[in-house]
Amino acid sequence: MSEPNLAVIVLAAGQGTRMRSRRPKVLHAVAGKPMIRHVLDALAPLEPARTVVVVGPGMPELTEAVAPAESVVQDERLGTGHAVLTAEAALGARAQDPDAEVLVALGDTPLVTPGTFDRLRRRRAEANADIAVLGFHPEDPGGYGRLICDDAGRLRRIVEAKDATPEELAVGACHAGMVCARAPALFDLLRRVDNANAKGEYYLTDIVALADGAGLTATHAVAPATELQGVNSRIDLAAAEAAMQQRLRHAAMTCGATLVAPETVTLAADTLLEPDVVVHPHVVFGPGVRVGEGAEVLSFSHLEGAQVAAGAKIGPYARLRPGSEIGAEARVGNFVEVKNARLAAGAKANHLSYLGDADVAEGANIGAGTITCNYDGYTKARTAIGAGAFIGSNTALVAPVRVGQGAIVGAGSTITKDVPDDALALGRGDQRNRDAAARRFRELRQGAKDRSEDKG
Ligand code: UD1
Ligand code: MG
Repeated sequence: MSEPNLAVIVLAAGQGTRMRSRRPKVLHAVAGKPMIRHVLDALAPLEPARTVVVVGPGMPELTEAVAPAESVVQDERLGTGHAVLTAEAALGARAQDPDAEVLVALGDTPLVTPGTFDRLRRRRAEANADIAVLGFHPEDPGGYGRLICDDAGRLRRIVEAKDATPEELAVGACHAGMVCARAPALFDLLRRVDNANAKGEYYLTDIVALADGAGLTATHAVAPATELQGVNSRIDLAAAEAAMQQRLRHAAMTCGATLVAPETVTLAADTLLEPDVVVHPHVVFGPGVRVGEGAEVLSFSHLEGAQVAAGAKIGPYARLRPGSEIGAEARVGNFVEVKNARLAAGAKANHLSYLGDADVAEGANIGAGTITCNYDGYTKARTAIGAGAFIGSNTALVAPVRVGQGAIVGAGSTITKDVPDDALALGRGDQRNRDAAARRFRELRQGAKDRSEDKG
């Protein structure tokens, strides 16, 4: 059920000057997912009737990343207040509907959770206020706006760090950036905001000080600092990553996975570890990985876009790239790379292999150094290996090629033709042994060497 009276505006137009990046700030990833997507995913459970993202000009990749949410372009980045006004037209009649509520979120606070948005909305409803802002107490208030309250604890205004006096900077209560307001109050106040401040910007935060004079009320809620750190620099980004990793690891362990050394495991926001999965130290999960019950991932493995079925064993030092599907009880050992390939139940590739664009059927055994030659410089082709087949070490399988079930390929083969079921294929030069030739060779060479030394 969508909330017909709720509209959400997410501010994401800033280039993020302090990031020193060509990429829009909110597209920088935390736990493998762009910051803006974290914020949108945290807003989704609120089921807003409308979600509008304010993007900057020339940011098509951002518009694409936020879809299906609608985006509006703020042509000039004149400040957070101006950005919210830019979204007004997209809300249509809702913008002046006294029953409509607008929740403004920032695209650069990736740790925020649905519960915190709820808390802000509840606070405004309980206080019957026109505006509610979200406060928090960060360890280092640094560049955040400060919440300035009167002696009765009532919020009077928000002062941006750059405009604050030393006394104001000493205030520990900061603004997290989120604002929830009755729609007409929000937009009417924003039209009164000017840019006479240190940054020459139209600050969203100025609506609090303007509320009193307009006969409107403002209040604030307080939420945990762990969720509200904003990301303005690469240093902030690393701090947000660390906080997110800690949260994801706790969630994974709570759901029944063992992380032997949790602080060394990197998870993606969507990593799914089923109960009794064991992850050893120093494993990296990129986006799109699911590991089935009881599977084990050994140290120094890197997985991305991979499905691992129950009881499989991966690593140490394995690399599963996108499109890898590892069947139940299958084994992928050290220095094995798998890409866009399926290893069925019980299949084994234990050492030093590349399996790309391949289908390896049940119980097949892939010897050390096997390579599927899947690319001719222009197109990719597939290799099929039948159930129970045995591929000898150091074999090159030149795709497209099929090795039948139960077939054996001799070590060191280069296989360019299909191998029938149960056949033995040898694709290597025949060996010739010449009796005593090694001894004769040594005698010959040693003799020559001795003669030349005598002369010298
Ligand atoms: C803002 C708040 C500050 C708060 C902090 C919390 C204001 C004026 N300040 O400061 O009180 O403590 O967040 O993290 O609101 N944006 C636009 N258009 C613009 C400017 C910014 O869309 O013209 C977007 C940015 O992309 C960003 C968000 O708004 O996602 C916040 O902007 P940013 O410049 O990071 O504001 P802060 O200085 O962090
Ligand atoms: Mg910011």
